[in-house]
Amino acid sequence: MLDVLLLLFVCFTAGSGETFRERAERIMNGTPVIDGHNDLPWQLLSQFNNKLSNVDLNELNTTHTNIPKLKAGHVGGQFWAAYVPCDTQNKDAVKRTLEQIDIIWRMCAKYPDVFTCAKTSADIRKAFEENKVASLIGVEGGHSMDSSLATLRMLYELGVRYMTLTHSCNTPWVDNWMVDTDQEAALSNGISPFGEKVIAEMNRLGMIVDLAHVSVDTMKDALAMSKAPVIFSHSSAYDICPHKRNVPNDVLRIVKEKHGLVMVNFYNKYVSCDSKASLTQVADHFDYIKKIAGYEAVGFGGDYDGVPNVPEGLEDVSKYPDLVAELLRRNWTEEEVQAALALNLLRVFEAVEKVKKDLANTIVDDEPISYEQIKGSCRTSYGYKGVKDGGKSLHYLPTALISSLLYFLFMLK
Ligand SMILES: *[C@@H]1O[C@H](CO)[C@@H](O)[C@H](O)[C@H]1NC(C)=O
Ligand SMILES: *[C@@H]1O[C@H](CO)[C@@H](O)[C@H](O)[C@H]1NC(C)=O
Ligand SMILES: [Zn+2]
Repeated sequence: MLDVLLLLFVCFTAGSGETFRERAERIMNGTPVIDGHNDLPWQLLSQFNNKLSNVDLNELNTTHTNIPKLKAGHVGGQFWAAYVPCDTQNKDAVKRTLEQIDIIWRMCAKYPDVFTCAKTSADIRKAFEENKVASLIGVEGGHSMDSSLATLRMLYELGVRYMTLTHSCNTPWVDNWMVDTDQEAALSNGISPFGEKVIAEMNRLGMIVDLAHVSVDTMKDALAMSKAPVIFSHSSAYDICPHKRNVPNDVLRIVKEKHGLVMVNFYNKYVSCDSKASLTQVADHFDYIKKIAGYEAVGFGGDYDGVPNVPEGLEDVSKYPDLVAELLRRNWTEEEVQAALALNLLRVFEAVEKVKKDLANTIVDDEPISYEQIKGSCRTSYGYKGVKDGGKSLHYLPTALISSLLYFLFMLK
């Protein structure tokens, strides 16, 4: 009898015939993916100058991302990047960042049945229940806050829930990954004293610290300074592909210790260190980070619409279930898969929210950065005593005097 039961059992499980792909779909119906980084807002700017009225996100086919693909990919949460390039630094970075935040809010408003702009972990869980894409905002690069804690606070008010400390340029207070190549010199050797105040303010506000794009010294400083867990919203494993945008082993170990999260980037150059890459090579990064830092430290950070090429098999945002199927094929348990899909990010976000609550009675830091660190021809110096605009302090004065004198003489003539 037992034999018969056993045989029946074996036949049933084998005969249930659920493929890895079907298992992936089933898991993702309950736990959709929260992706760490998508640059659709940048595409809307560069392709349409942000004229969303001219765009139908159901039909858009010049991007990795559109509504049918998001649905097919079981995307239940997306950090949309409010990205502005480094050449806006010290120019119109703040205005352009506000415009990218605006277009994310307008996406939510135009497609209320698809997107819901989310500001809390509870909002994400609610979006899951309503079968919508929780839309979160990540600012990609500290240049977007223009060295101003007040601007950082206002970005939070506008819904920004992570800030990548740098894009691919130093700011006056933090170094980017390029200093680990020979393309840029270190300025702060990680995070400067003002940068430490930025981290403290992000902790107080409840904004996630994102370490994609930063130098290794910055990674280590931030992991040591932050009271809340940090993320890498779109970075992969350095040991698999030694590109300086990726996360080295010693940092992966600290991430584990600090309960942080590395959301794997799909850009070919960071996956295979080559112009070509495959889905299975992306899965290798998942396996590797899991091995070094544990499954609690792995997530998805596709970087769709922010990169020129993506792996074969992961062509657009509809393909996440294929990657999940590959992880299942590699014997990831359903618990591990669910963690990587969404639960790890939710855990980090909740920890960040808890730190915010714990710091609720902290006094707001209102000491501005020193004018010396930000002076330049684009800035006025209101509020700073004893300096002249543009940092043209006393040694420029003779030049100014001489030129006005010459002008005066010329006019007299
Ligand atoms: C992309 O969309 C445009 C406009 O809706 C349409 O004319 C074109 O045929 C589409 N291209 C593809 C490859 O589907
Ligand atoms: C997965 O587990 C099965 C059964 O234990 C084993 O035969 C197989 O080799 C494992 N596959 C991998 C990729 O580890
Ligand atoms: Zn990026």
